[in-house]
Amino acid sequence: MYQLNEFSQRSELDTALSDKVAAILTDAVNMKGKASIAVSGGSTPKGFFTELSQKALPWADITITLADERWVDIDSDSSNTRLVHENLLQNQAVNAKFFHLKQGEELSEETLADLNLAADSALLPFDVLILGMGEDGHTASLFPCSEQINQALSADCPSLLKVVPTTAPHDRITFSFNALKQSKNTFLHISGDSKKAVLEQACANSDIKAMPIRAFLHDPVINTQVFWAE
Ligand code: 6PG
Repeated sequence: MYQLNEFSQRSELDTALSDKVAAILTDAVNMKGKASIAVSGGSTPKGFFTELSQKALPWADITITLADERWVDIDSDSSNTRLVHENLLQNQAVNAKFFHLKQGEELSEETLADLNLAADSALLPFDVLILGMGEDGHTASLFPCSEQINQALSADCPSLLKVVPTTAPHDRITFSFNALKQSKNTFLHISGDSKKAVLEQACANSDIKAMPIRAFLHDPVINTQVFWAE
């Protein structure tokens, strides 16, 4: 299930979302001494990243990672790791821990196995998950066009897997639905009229493989908080 939170200005959304996430992360550190957050790449989250980076949180006890990453050099314009370093790991958040999904040159089975072990022990379940959504209803790198979508949505999928989308560039590494659905707080951050129309289409039907974002919107256990601004 989901709840829709609408904002007339993207700046208002960024402030409200960063306030909410800051409170959750602070409570998690107070309760268990650490917190983890998975964020998404793309163009939407920059303002939110900047707002969150300015919060005076116990960042040394907070681990940030990505819900998915393109398998490109981290100095590439396409790198989500670069996006997070340049926009979120700044200001007060400069000392936050960052769990790199892009490690090494090749996304080999061995690399994937090592990353799965590390993620399972150090990160999951996330205290906060920030999802984005593409026009095709993909989220993270759960792409409807990929051969890996059945595996990525299956209940026995490892936490991390390689995905090769056919309608988007770059091989990807992504957390699976099985891993992401465990998150204690799930947010979908979208903006603009076209994404609102995609959201309405996703809510109107339950074919998850056609629009993987539906796995989060229609799941009876996950209370996805949708944050949308014009
Ligand atoms: C990525 C993201 C992806 C993104 C959506 C929305 O690596 O591209 O993880 O899931 O969130 O494609 O991207 P925009 O914010 O650019 O529309």
